[in-house]
Amino acid sequence: IKTIGVMTSGGDSPGMNAAIRAVVRACAYYGIRCVGFYRGYQGMIEGDYTEMTARSVQNIISKGGTILKSARSEEFRTKKGREKAAAQLKEIEVDAMVLIGGDGTFTGGRIFSKEYEIPVIGVPGTIDNDIAGTNFTIGYDTALNTVVDAIDKIRDTASSHNRLFFVEVMGRDAGFIALNSGVGAGAEEILIPEEDLGLERLLESLKRSKRSGKSSSIVVVSEGDKTGKNVYELADYVTEHLPDYDVRVTVLGHMQRGGKPSCFDRTLASRLCVKAVELLLDGKENLMVGLVNNQVTTSEFDKDFKEGHGINKELLRISDILSV
Ligand code: F6P
Repeated sequence: IKTIGVMTSGGDSPGMNAAIRAVVRACAYYGIRCVGFYRGYQGMIEGDYTEMTARSVQNIISKGGTILKSARSEEFRTKKGREKAAAQLKEIEVDAMVLIGGDGTFTGGRIFSKEYEIPVIGVPGTIDNDIAGTNFTIGYDTALNTVVDAIDKIRDTASSHNRLFFVEVMGRDAGFIALNSGVGAGAEEILIPEEDLGLERLLESLKRSKRSGKSSSIVVVSEGDKTGKNVYELADYVTEHLPDYDVRVTVLGHMQRGGKPSCFDRTLASRLCVKAVELLLDGKENLMVGLVNNQVTTSEFDKDFKEGHGINKELLRISDILSV
């Protein structure tokens, strides 16, 4: 292998820059050429790339977002798009790719590497933490801290006005962010896609908390929760059934994807990406790197990226106990 390509794809996450830096620096360390593709697979299709040296990634370790930019390429889903990307890699003389992203990125990469026999290594980067084969994805820790920080602020105003807040957090179809930030921020209830606790239970819990003397409350709602109602409808529903509550809604949205990466995410990105380069140089391919029990490990790329990576239901029990 003489040249490794790197790109970031799907929803960006804090720590992606630290990941790019680690790929580029590891390549420099081992005397390998490194090129960065812009906007994920779309840049590969269009041949939109840049030569990367150790100096081209200076001072990016602390920055949120991704200097290579990110996209969800529709064209790469087509055979024609992937053919163009393979032709570009050949033209630019890229021998292998490090793909930084989530589920969608890996699914595309798996098809691509099989079709064109291009060695790829996947590095899990998404705030959602919804990837099997790693305990943590790059960006998740930072996003959690951003959410907890935001909820702490909401709690201040909720408490001043004796209000109930519904706070919607990201996570697409996974409740990792909601569950962990909910426990970390001391939420009254946490609604996640993995567990349908039912609306009755929510009302009961809110009644109980009023009775127990609480004057304000926070309910954390994952964007894909199973109540069948969006966060505004939930707020209306509760207002209708519990008119004593003065209800407000905050949707945290894309602020959760931005900001300086935490030390944890920077270190995680650094460890995973050095390993990704070393694996390719060792002749390994089509693997995903991950962190399991604080060890950098690899898992098959040919797998269901959700399988066996569930939320920790114990946290629901903890949350129940602590919101007494
Ligand atoms: O996968 C990351 C994520 O932030 C999800 O939590 C969220 O559902 C989705 O991306 C939002 O995507 P977009 O940035 O395209 O609106």
